[in-house]
Amino acid sequence: MKAQQVRQTFLDFFQSKQHQIVPSAPMVVKGDPTLMFINSGMAPFKDIFLGNAPIKNSRVADTQKCLRVSGKHNDLEEVGVDTYHHTMFEMLGNWSFADYFKKEAITWAWELLTEVYKLDKNRLYVTVFEGNKEENVPFDDEAFTLWKGLIDENRILKGNKKDNFWEMGEAGPCGPCTEIHYDGRTDEERENINGATLVNADHPQVIEIWNVVFMEFMRKADKSLEPLPNKHVDTGMGFERLVRVLQGKQSNYDTDIFMPLITQIEKLSNLKYNTQIEVTDKTQQSINIAMRVIADHIRTISFSIADGQLPSNNGAGYVIRRILRRAIRYGYQSLHIKQPFLNQIVSTLVNQLSAQFPELAAQQSIITKVIFEEESAFYKTLELGLKRISHICEQIVKENKAKSIDGKTVFELYDTFGFPLDLTALIAKDYNLTINENEFNDHLTEQKNRSRAVSKVESDDWVFVNQDDQTKFLGYTHSSCECKIIKHKKVKTKQSTMYQLVLNQTPFYAESGGQVGDTGILQNNHDIVYITDTKKENGLIVHYCNQLPEKIEGNFTAQIDIEKRQLTENNHSATHLLHAVLRQTIGLHIEQKGSLVNSDYLRFDFSNFSKLTNEQLLNIENIINQKINQNIQVQTKEMPIDEAKATGAMSLFGEKYGSTVRVVEIDKSFSIELCGGTHVKKTQQIKYFKIKSESAVAAGIRRIEALTSDGAINYYNQHFNELNEIKAILNSNKNTVSQIKSVLDENAELKKQLQQFVKEKGQLIKQDLLKKVQNKKGINYIFQIISFNHEDEIKNILFELRSQLNTCVCVLGCINQNKPSLSIIISDDLVKTKNLNANTIIRDIAPLINGKGGGQPFYAQAGGTSLDGLQAAINKTKEFLN
Ligand code: SER
Repeated sequence: MKAQQVRQTFLDFFQSKQHQIVPSAPMVVKGDPTLMFINSGMAPFKDIFLGNAPIKNSRVADTQKCLRVSGKHNDLEEVGVDTYHHTMFEMLGNWSFADYFKKEAITWAWELLTEVYKLDKNRLYVTVFEGNKEENVPFDDEAFTLWKGLIDENRILKGNKKDNFWEMGEAGPCGPCTEIHYDGRTDEERENINGATLVNADHPQVIEIWNVVFMEFMRKADKSLEPLPNKHVDTGMGFERLVRVLQGKQSNYDTDIFMPLITQIEKLSNLKYNTQIEVTDKTQQSINIAMRVIADHIRTISFSIADGQLPSNNGAGYVIRRILRRAIRYGYQSLHIKQPFLNQIVSTLVNQLSAQFPELAAQQSIITKVIFEEESAFYKTLELGLKRISHICEQIVKENKAKSIDGKTVFELYDTFGFPLDLTALIAKDYNLTINENEFNDHLTEQKNRSRAVSKVESDDWVFVNQDDQTKFLGYTHSSCECKIIKHKKVKTKQSTMYQLVLNQTPFYAESGGQVGDTGILQNNHDIVYITDTKKENGLIVHYCNQLPEKIEGNFTAQIDIEKRQLTENNHSATHLLHAVLRQTIGLHIEQKGSLVNSDYLRFDFSNFSKLTNEQLLNIENIINQKINQNIQVQTKEMPIDEAKATGAMSLFGEKYGSTVRVVEIDKSFSIELCGGTHVKKTQQIKYFKIKSESAVAAGIRRIEALTSDGAINYYNQHFNELNEIKAILNSNKNTVSQIKSVLDENAELKKQLQQFVKEKGQLIKQDLLKKVQNKKGINYIFQIISFNHEDEIKNILFELRSQLNTCVCVLGCINQNKPSLSIIISDDLVKTKNLNANTIIRDIAPLINGKGGGQPFYAQAGGTSLDGLQAAINKTKEFLN
């Protein structure tokens, strides 16, 4: 079976069991502060498991794009070393939300594996939870009995809490699980060693393929367990492993999921991948690992970019950048590829996967471009880093002090230059040096702890105040409403303690789709509480405040800051107009790549390969202002997603849409977008639109920042006033632009002339100094005070004097606009034979001019504030040299 067929068979099987097949959610997470990336098939359904969202369909199945960069085997540094762990993988899953439980889940899993995929029953093992006294959870007898009806009893193994009790996170739904393992060893090996002893023992051929979780408990913040009112099933089958097993391969990388990628890497590197499991040759081993790393990472990088997460310097973007650099580094070190190559693998991936994941084909050019630019930049960093490491190694060897590079330096190279530890070690080896890895690890741990401490959030359990099912959002039509608090929770970070409130109904918009969350108040006759922000969390609308009302049970009025909301709406509706105009005037290749809408301004990132011209920007502003003037009624409608797409409504990659969507229309022939945000009623409310800037954010991504309403008008006024001030300064009625140009030209010409004069004056000073040279015991000395305003030229004079005078010491005191400075130059022979050190001397005499200084043994410089001490400083040097 080809991979595509394996996937389809899974989905068809569960469809035949009345499951709704849903598309994979984007891999990059929104609305869950505990996750950056979807890390398992169940993550997109957390809102349902937590009871925050209604169950619309109680049976669901899908293949979900997942990303794991930490964990026992998925530690980024280890992926590629073995043959069955990945950063990005697909998890096939079927779910029961308060519907079927253990019986159906187990029977169907068995039916699919053994009757549909026809896996050999004699190679399968299953595990069930053995129970745990401390947790007060008994042995999973039900699962055991069910399995006994299907599989030989000695193939049912008992597992402990670590392997057979699945938890969503620190707190939340959890429960026992039953895993299915496959023994892929040869008959002979299976004869010799009983497979049962190798289950969950890290054997590369005896691997877990499916995990079936029975969610029946809630883990509370105090770590206790509570039974869940509704029981659920969450299953996850590793797609890449299943394909490997069905294709009879010994490595996930030998399947048709990875082989086309590896073939392309072979072409690019002119090297061969060896599919033998036991490769003993060290060079071939490192080639194999590098090819696996690259084949794995290109998937992660491409899918992340397709889902809207560009590589960057922080958060999720930084994770992607690190993965990308790791792939480049393996190409560089083990495959000797010295120029951008990853981008040339994208088309192979697109060909393989775009039938299932159309986002890849739709965004192929942007993915390729972003990767190319990132690669080019990293090669430059690599080169800079290489120079720096060589310099450091040379210094150490020259000084002959140490045999290793200290951990702090290695860490700095890693942290500042993105320079990997093992590459540093490799280069150090060329100089017969080692690196202090322990010290490096200490620095790394320290940094990790620091950032963990900053981001650590301690969360209490929800405290329920009033019973209600879900929050009603009234904010599309209301700015205030009566409400009750359903539940609240205390959340502590290093910086602050906050409370989160969930209301039965609310006018507060929770941050999403780029639009910031509302602020406002919650009040009644006794209390007033300020809501400082509103965010979405696993399907809840969470209001943030610094304190709780005293009488928490009562009725309240929730009131948003209406002015702030209206300004935000101006910017949000203007963003839709901008999106539409960009596509109409620049091209349909333009996709939204990010947006921020608040009360001050709007920021819109979009894919485009070149800078927009002033004429294009002006044209865009004009069209938007025309639309604003037409006072178009903004329409919003809810409809099934297919119907919305049929109207041509724009949807965004990386957004998770439900089966029913909200459509915002500003003139149906102009702008229709899927959007959950709040908007103006009529476009004239926006008043005016003005672009403030257009710039590059990343490769192929441009950013427009713009203002609306009074913000735009103030911006004009401010610029107009500034222009008037400039005109007043220029004191002329001529064209301001050409006048400023001519002032700047004149200034440049004067600077050139001045430099020439300074040089000439410097030469005169030098001639004068040469007349003052004293010679004692074959050494030429100059001790002089001069008046001169140009520091750089003093340095030049001193270097010229040194080469003219051969063996010499020159000490200059300089008065520059009433400030003293000291400079010393010493010829190299004296530095070497007499151990003279300009740096030590200057540090010694600088305090006499109330100053500080430093430099190198042959040249040092100090600046100070006390002119009185200048002569004394020179005298002191003279005495010392005598
Ligand atoms: N949540 C379980 C896992 O990730 C099953 O999907 O293994």
